[in-house]
Amino acid sequence: MELLLKITSLLKEIKEAKISSQEELEKFRLKFISRKGVIPDLFEDFKKVDGDKKKDTGKALNELKVLAEKKFHETADQFKNNGQPNVSKGEDLSLPPVQNTLGSIHPVSSTKFRIIEIFERIGFNVSDGPEIEDDWHNFTALNFPENHPAREMQDTFFITRNPDIALRTHTSSVQVRVMESQKPPIRTLSPGRVYRNEAISARAHVFFHQMEGLYVDHNVSFSDLKNTLYYFAREMFGKDTSVRFKPSFFPFTEPSAEIDISCLLCHGEGCSICKHTGWVEIGGAGMVDPNVLQNCNIDPGEYTGFAFGMGIERIALLKYQINDIRLFTENDVRFLRQFTGAY
Ligand code: FA5
Repeated sequence: MELLLKITSLLKEIKEAKISSQEELEKFRLKFISRKGVIPDLFEDFKKVDGDKKKDTGKALNELKVLAEKKFHETADQFKNNGQPNVSKGEDLSLPPVQNTLGSIHPVSSTKFRIIEIFERIGFNVSDGPEIEDDWHNFTALNFPENHPAREMQDTFFITRNPDIALRTHTSSVQVRVMESQKPPIRTLSPGRVYRNEAISARAHVFFHQMEGLYVDHNVSFSDLKNTLYYFAREMFGKDTSVRFKPSFFPFTEPSAEIDISCLLCHGEGCSICKHTGWVEIGGAGMVDPNVLQNCNIDPGEYTGFAFGMGIERIALLKYQINDIRLFTENDVRFLRQFTGAY
């Protein structure tokens, strides 16, 4: 008989088989499942099947094998349990629950999500830009003059001999991309990874994450910026947290400020994270320089804006009271496990 016909007939036999005792089950096993049963023989015969019939015959043969095993195991389970829950598959309902072995959200990610949630409530959306960036978006459009020492504030990793292409040193590059492609009002947050050729320490790394914020509209003022950041600090760290603005310099904002938060690790007593000052710098901020608006084809006579850029790791250090930024990238599960359900 042709192999496919034989298989079809056995499929029918298995489907219709009534197994009502352990003896009948054993007979079924010997006939179909055991090494000396019919199915292994059929696999031998299959090797001789002509090429054009191989596909259909192989499919039917696999179906036969799966069906026979399924019928055997299901019937064996029924006999074992006598109608009780299926303990043979490990479903013992009296056992304590199995521990959740899924991973947890990384603390830098959960901090990022939390920051986004806080700003979304006051109308900010989220935007994105590339990590490999050109000189225009990372520096020139942001008012960094060519060959100016300000470019060395953020030591750059170049990835080719082409000085025009580098790993972005800050998320301010996304500000430019957003302003080039959208018209005000703009209220956007741009989270992302950035890279700097710096010495690694407990508070600084060569790659880290920033959260850029940009608000451009009619009559945006410095007090809007301060109030927005006070609101953020209260929501993120609690109402007793102190915020300090210190005059600073960035080529793309005027005036510019550094944003400091009272150190939640040592509460002012001094530690390596606050460099023993009681304050941790979490970001820079300021009013968008009119030259930057102009570079992005936004009329500085009509619009003003504020921008800020915060270090997400610095915020996570404070939020979770962690004393070394290197822990975030070492992938030590003893560290990561502590954040299960922390978001
Ligand atoms: C900037 O990167 C500006 N682009 C911020 C900005 C945006 C200013 C918009 C004005 C308007 P700065 O280099 O200070 O600024 O970095 C911002 C924050 O990133 C720092 O306050 C700090 O929280 C974090 N940061 C900077 N360098 C490191 C580092 N090496 N490791 C970890 N976090 C860092």
